[in-house]
Amino acid sequence: MQTVSLLGICASPRERGNSRYLLELALAAADAAAAGRVASDLYSFSRKEIGPCISCFRCEELGDCAIEDDFQKLRDAWMAADAIIYSVPVYHMGIPGQLKCFIDRLGNTLCAEEGGGSTKLLKAVGVAAQGDCIFSGQEQVMTALINHAVLMGCIPVAGDPWQSYLGAAGWTRNDLGQDSLQRLYESGEEDAQIAVTAAESLGKRVVEMALLLKAGGAACRGMLASEAAYDAFLERLRSEDQGPG
Ligand SMILES: Cc1cc2nc3c(=O)[nH]c(=O)nc-3n(C[C@H](O)[C@H](O)[C@H](O)COP(=O)(O)O)c2cc1C
Repeated sequence: MQTVSLLGICASPRERGNSRYLLELALAAADAAAAGRVASDLYSFSRKEIGPCISCFRCEELGDCAIEDDFQKLRDAWMAADAIIYSVPVYHMGIPGQLKCFIDRLGNTLCAEEGGGSTKLLKAVGVAAQGDCIFSGQEQVMTALINHAVLMGCIPVAGDPWQSYLGAAGWTRNDLGQDSLQRLYESGEEDAQIAVTAAESLGKRVVEMALLLKAGGAACRGMLASEAAYDAFLERLRSEDQGPG
């Protein structure tokens, strides 16, 4: 029986903010959708140090990033996961800097490991994004992370219409509090209901897609084994000892 290792990444520097609120809802919905078949973990950027890529290209010699900080731990968790849900505050119509630092270093480290070749990681990836304003960057954040998923050979997943088009998007009616979304939701405010519904369907669809990918991978193991691009994916399948495909 396939199981899914689901990594939730909260890209806010706040320990318990609006991003975390949506992420916890998505993870709970994933758990409910695949009861007993999902092990989820929540990584928070709060109090983490992940500095920028310094373009030294020492990863090409070392096979790892030359800068030692909190990057390595998140990279290992990211690589081991079958599914990833990002929950991200909009910062100036884009993703927060620390998340971008992580993405840059992740990509170059992987490139160095793979010798620049194609990598098909086949993780299911979903995105929740929220900010204090409406029409203020949520779709750009989701698109940036969906594009990154494609670049990594992953499969982007949205929740269900009509609440979710690219992922889960929310806004806090210009309230900068860290529990604004939750308060709005609990007061019955309509846009917060939409964000919550979208986050929940996002969690469900991400975990379903990860299960489908793993089942498909197990069935096509022989075909995939002939291409190095699938090595990391096949390694994740092997770790479950699912038998020959
Ligand atoms: C540096 C910075 C830039 C921001 N830029 C935007 C923005 O462009 N659009 C937006 O809607 N909100 C913006 N915000 C507001 C946050 O996205 C919003 O408060 C969000 O709810 C914070 O999420 P968190 O509680 O998970 O940290 C910005 C906040 C900060 C600190």
